[in-house]
Amino acid sequence: TKMCTYDPGYTSTGSCESTITFIDGGKGILLYRGYPIEQLVESTCDFTDAAYLLLNGELPDGNQHKAFEQELKSHTMVHEKLIEFFKGFKSDAHPMAIMVGVVGALSAFYESKNWRDPAQAQISCVRLIAKVPTLAAIAYRTSVGQPIVYPKNEYSMAQNFLYMMFSSPSEEFKPDPILARAMEVIMILHMDHEQNASTSTVRVAGSSQANPYACIAAGISCLWGPSHGGANEAVLSMLEEIGNVKYITEYIAKVKDPKDPFRLMGFGHRVYKSYDPRAKIMRQITHQVLEHLKVVDPVLDLAMELERIALTDEYFIKRNLYPNVDFYSGICLRAMGIPVSMFTVLFAVSRTVGWCAQWKEMALEKGNRISRPRQIYSGAATRAYVPLDKRA
Ligand code: CMC
Repeated sequence: TKMCTYDPGYTSTGSCESTITFIDGGKGILLYRGYPIEQLVESTCDFTDAAYLLLNGELPDGNQHKAFEQELKSHTMVHEKLIEFFKGFKSDAHPMAIMVGVVGALSAFYESKNWRDPAQAQISCVRLIAKVPTLAAIAYRTSVGQPIVYPKNEYSMAQNFLYMMFSSPSEEFKPDPILARAMEVIMILHMDHEQNASTSTVRVAGSSQANPYACIAAGISCLWGPSHGGANEAVLSMLEEIGNVKYITEYIAKVKDPKDPFRLMGFGHRVYKSYDPRAKIMRQITHQVLEHLKVVDPVLDLAMELERIALTDEYFIKRNLYPNVDFYSGICLRAMGIPVSMFTVLFAVSRTVGWCAQWKEMALEKGNRISRPRQIYSGAATRAYVPLDKRA
């Protein structure tokens, strides 16, 4: 057998070849299929455009855009039987826990003998991208005990998400165009980020030719952790805990203490050693959304001051720690009325596009092998079994 190199946390191991997303961590560059993220969000790029691009490699022309949007809309409903699953959860279940279960359950509704068939792979991705937002909104509605709202075909993906979250039989919710665009930009920003932990999880699960719906559920499980997608929820609790700008210095001292496991949530990134380009856009949208809603949130001032102090502190400078995408997103989402427990779910809804694109790239790759890392064994050498009555 071959010797293996030890690379804990895979900081320098390339696990695949990919044509989807490029990151230059030193320069703070993020490209989807070659297009800078800033250009995508500042232009007419919508959910459909970005999802088509990530999934198929090129931007759609007018007809392709229309057809893809129609196709997505024709798959937003979920099987009525699946709705029964939601009834089984405790009423205070975290919506991410519900998502792990119900997205995994989709695998019972869609079976195939050959996930590597291009048509099978494509339709699975379309179904997942279309249905995960519906499941996410239902997870929220069940967690607050409200009736389910089905998607409306006249709405875009982002508008529909807001509509399914906030409409009610007694009062129809009409998505505000500015907030719907902000939601769409947030979704596009989170769609893909090359081989992050959850995407790698999806690829590893899929490498055994497992059911893709189950693979996406594995990605959701991984995303839930506070070091990954759960950070946006953790940032808000941290800011609430700090409570006032006058306590920032004290909190930062705690974060810097090597004996304290505390980390500044929403700060630092494995790949970005400069400002996360998504965080810059997120900060801008947060200001726009709060201004539009005429919301004055002291937590935003606290976040800005925390960022200012951290970026001039030697500890953070030496380690190249900058705000990441999660630092401002929570403040923005909360102002839009999205409950804290749904922050990571929204991340999952958006990242489903990237997970699908990455899964499809892998599934259709010729000669793809099962992911099977090796280890450095540090346990006992061979020894003789001791019967129970002979053990001291
Ligand atoms: N606050 C304080 N110190 C930090 C932080 C932080 N947020 N992040 C890293 N460090 C320190 C760390 O203690 C270590 O110091 P030393 O060299 O003295 O031991 C050094 O910086 C390098 O850290 P690391 O743990 O080797 O970095 P990593 O690449 O393994 O971890 C990370 C990356 C994102 C998990 C980490 O920065 C972190 O825990 N950040 C807070 C959680 C967070 O915001 N996560 C969201 C990431 S972006 C969205 C996503 O991917 O989901």
